[in-house]
This record gives sequence, C-alpha cells and structure tokens, in this order.
Amino acid sequence: MNLKQAIRSLPEKGYLDIPVTKNLDLVKEIERLRKAKNAVILAHYYQVPEIQDIADFVGDSLALAQAAAKTTADIILFAGVHFMAETAKILNPDKKVLLPDLLAGCSLAESAPKDKFEAFKKQHPDHIVVSYVNTSADIKALTDIVCTSSNAEKIINSIPKDKKIIFAPDKNLGAYLIKKTGRDMLLWDGACEVHEEFSLEKILQLKTEHPDAKIIAHPESRDYILNIADYIGSTSGLLKYVQQSDAKEFIIATESGILHKMAQVAPDKILIPAPPENDKNSCACTECPYMKRNTLKKIYLALEYELPEVNVEETLRKKALVSIERMLELS
Ligand code: 13P
Ligand code: SF4
Repeated sequence: MNLKQAIRSLPEKGYLDIPVTKNLDLVKEIERLRKAKNAVILAHYYQVPEIQDIADFVGDSLALAQAAAKTTADIILFAGVHFMAETAKILNPDKKVLLPDLLAGCSLAESAPKDKFEAFKKQHPDHIVVSYVNTSADIKALTDIVCTSSNAEKIINSIPKDKKIIFAPDKNLGAYLIKKTGRDMLLWDGACEVHEEFSLEKILQLKTEHPDAKIIAHPESRDYILNIADYIGSTSGLLKYVQQSDAKEFIIATESGILHKMAQVAPDKILIPAPPENDKNSCACTECPYMKRNTLKKIYLALEYELPEVNVEETLRKKALVSIERMLELS
C-alpha cells in the first residue's frame, strides 16, 4: 500500500498501514525523527513496555495533561487514547498533535454520547457538571470542571457544599467519590469495560495463595473490588503505593501495562495482575484493547508522515478548554 492509499484508508483503519524496510531499527528512527522535528512523545502507563521505554514522558492522565500544557515541542505524539490526544490539542491549538492510531478510543468516553448527555444536563440545570477526563471534547464543552482519578476528590471538595453535582461518565469512580466526600452526586451510567472485568472470585483465590499480598485497585473498578482493596488510587497513586509500601507482594487491579513501570521502580516486589472474568488474552491479566492499538511501527510512521493528526474545531475547543483549565488550576 502506498502513502496515498494509506491516507485514504485512515478513517476506516485508523493508522498508516504502509510496509517498512525489513530490519528497520524503529527505535533509532523514532529517535532521529523526534529530534529532527522537535517532537515530544507522551505515553500513558498502559502502553506496551517498548513504547513506555522510548517516551519522553510516561504518566497518568493528569500528569500527561500537565506535560502537554507546558511542552515547547512543535509536535506532540500521544501514545495513549483519543481523548488524551484531544485534550493535548485543546491545550495546544498551534501544535501538531499526532495519535498513532485514531481507533485508539475509550469505552468510558464512548459511554457518554453528546446528545444524550446534553439532554440529561438540561433536565438538571441547577447542577455543576464534573466530568472525568475520559470524555470527548463535546462533553468537556458541556462540563464545568474536568477531573482525573488523581484529583477527583480534591475537585469535588472544592465545590461549595450547597451546590448540586452531576458526575460523569464513570459510575464506579462516581460511587467511590460519593463515599469519600459524602456528597450526594447524580451519576451518569458509564463505565470502563476493562476495569469492570476484574473477577472477585479469582482475586480472592490469589489472596489465599498470597495471604500477605496487598490488593490495590483503580477506582474505575466495581465496588465489590474496591471493597476488598487495601489501597485505591490512580495509576500514579498505585505506582507510588507499590514503591513506598513495606509489603512485598501486590495484587494489582488495573490495566496490566502499569506493571512495567512498577517493576522498574520496585524491582524487588512481587507484582501479580488481577485476573479478569474472561481471560481473552490468556495472560491472566487485563489489557485495554484501545491502549494496546499503539505500536512502535505506528509511532514511527506517524512521526515520519505527521499523520494521523487530531484536530478540534475552534469554537468547540475554546468551550472545552475552560473546563480543562479549571482542573489544571485546581491541581
Ligand atoms: P489514570 O492514569 O489517570 O489513573 O487513568 C486511568 C485510565 O483508565 C486512563 O484511561
Ligand atoms: Fe478507556 Fe478503560 Fe481503556 Fe482507560 S482502560 S482507556 S478508561 S477503556
């Protein structure tokens, strides 16, 4: 397939599907292009290890948004999912933002379609809207303050007690925040298909085999998983906990990509991924199929041809920016 054909098939395929020279050193090529084009590679902890290892910065959703807000690079290559690249573009209208695969979406972001959410908001005009960063630009434009799992509690607590709150789109994180803050929030009925998959039975079985292991979980997980967790936190929170805890073994209920960074920062710890109900990848772990769409080859091609690009229409961008900037101010 040549470049023109690859570009034509982008909407359907999501990425540039062009053959590369056999034995091409992708890591070296990415390094060359990154320097030549003054590009920065931002990667989420759920990316495959080889992508995390070549990134300029690896972080959770908040840290990535903060890194995007202050970069001086001309090109931002986002090794993550669409809403992350879109957030980077909203913050950087004059920079080129590349996403190696446009089909790297997010089930949580998909669970809040614009029209339905707009109608829901209209039914509750006296509510402040707090939305998780895992949303489209359309939802961010309908939002008062964006949050991530790192700062959600702080952001909810910053809202005066007499104000009513809509929290969207993650009902699991929302229910957890209601417990933590005591605020009576109206929850949108959305969820992450990856974090909803953890098997309570299999985790409890692992706990009997590793009685000293700490169970740690991301708040996008279901309440019956959070109820047995010793620690609940964002990906960066989980990473810090493993690094600082005196415990030696951990059962980790979040996407398994984080185990790579955990093993790097805490090489002496035993890290056990929490298994899903249906073990689709037969890894006894849970992987996000959207995060895992990115590969080194797709990153190389994206940097070489500066495609696929993520763009946001200017009126929408300006509206969405307000709720993201409020979050960054409060973080
Ligand atoms: P954090 O890295 O902010 O905890 O988010 C997890 C996640 O599901 C990102 O899609
Ligand atoms: Fe979305 Fe869940 Fe994948 Fe995160 S892990 S990108 S919330 S589907």
